[in-house]
Amino acid sequence: MIETSAAAPPAEAVADFAEDVRRDLALSPKQIQSKYLYNALGSCLFEAICRLPWYRITRAEGRLLSRWAEPMVASLPDPLTFVELGCGSGEKVAMLAEALRSRRRSVSVHLIDISPIALELSERTLGRLEHVSVVGHRTTYEEGLRHAATLRPSGVTMLVLFLGSNIGNFDPPAAHDFLSQIRRALRPGDALLLGADLVKSERELLLAYDDPLGVTAAFNKNLLVRINRELLADFDLASFDHRAVWNAAESRVEMHLVSRHAQQVNIPRAGCTVSFERGEHIWTENSYKYTIEEVVQRGERAGFRSREQWVDGDARFALTLFVAN
Ligand SMILES: C[S@@+](CC[C@H](N)C(=O)[O-])C[C@H]1O[C@@H](n2cnc3c(N)ncnc32)[C@H](O)[C@@H]1O
Repeated sequence: MIETSAAAPPAEAVADFAEDVRRDLALSPKQIQSKYLYNALGSCLFEAICRLPWYRITRAEGRLLSRWAEPMVASLPDPLTFVELGCGSGEKVAMLAEALRSRRRSVSVHLIDISPIALELSERTLGRLEHVSVVGHRTTYEEGLRHAATLRPSGVTMLVLFLGSNIGNFDPPAAHDFLSQIRRALRPGDALLLGADLVKSERELLLAYDDPLGVTAAFNKNLLVRINRELLADFDLASFDHRAVWNAAESRVEMHLVSRHAQQVNIPRAGCTVSFERGEHIWTENSYKYTIEEVVQRGERAGFRSREQWVDGDARFALTLFVAN
């Protein structure tokens, strides 16, 4: 069983959260960074989303990995280290690690995630593989990548995994900066396996981000629960609606929390009171969708060479293996 009422977050993390909430709710439009969706409850809700019939990313990527994991890792020389950015449940990195087992190759795995529950789940998933040694980093992608790169001994090949279309949460300039940052952390011959969701029909996209069971709505509204709990705010959950929008011009699905009426919310630990007009929204997440060519171009512009791409034609999802030049 997974404990969802995790221990209180460290004071420093709460202070950063308070500072970000105060600053970003003063913007126009109001925003909250999507990384804050993943507290203990948020991670459990995300795992539930992955099991919904309408959210097809996880199953599509799982299908590609179960079919192609062996050739993906076959060309990478030993000794090997995997670094997964935003590992979630750890099931995908476990599939790649499994592919090494039949060849009696051992691997060390660095798991990087801001969510303690995600790290706990991943460590449990990988714990059953005796040829795998695991290091968990409870921190941001950037900080974790820096740390994992400094721990890597010379002569070890690094494969960075950025799966589940996590790249889609970055706007195009930020995606370029982050892919370039990954490239700088790598040495020639190291690799990046990038999972990216592809453009598909608006109907399919909206069902994935606004499902009929309301799990994605709960995932989004949990941000308000989190602000109430950690920053002692008085958001009334019934006064906000979840909304998903396909912005075709920007090729992204946006998630918002929309105020049902004019209201004021006090957030004592962030030292602010925030006013909402009726219909005003807080922008909580972007999920950019790509074409297969765009994925390759993005990696190549950041200093990688695309070695191979595997596409799930059914769910329209691509896994691309890049090698650092
Ligand atoms: C959409 S989930 C995907 C999980 C997994 N990669 C998958 O494919 O199922 C995103 C994961 O990244 C983590 N995450 C989100 N933003 C992060 C950030 N800025 N730094 C570190 N981890 C982050 C979340 O806690 C969550 O576990």
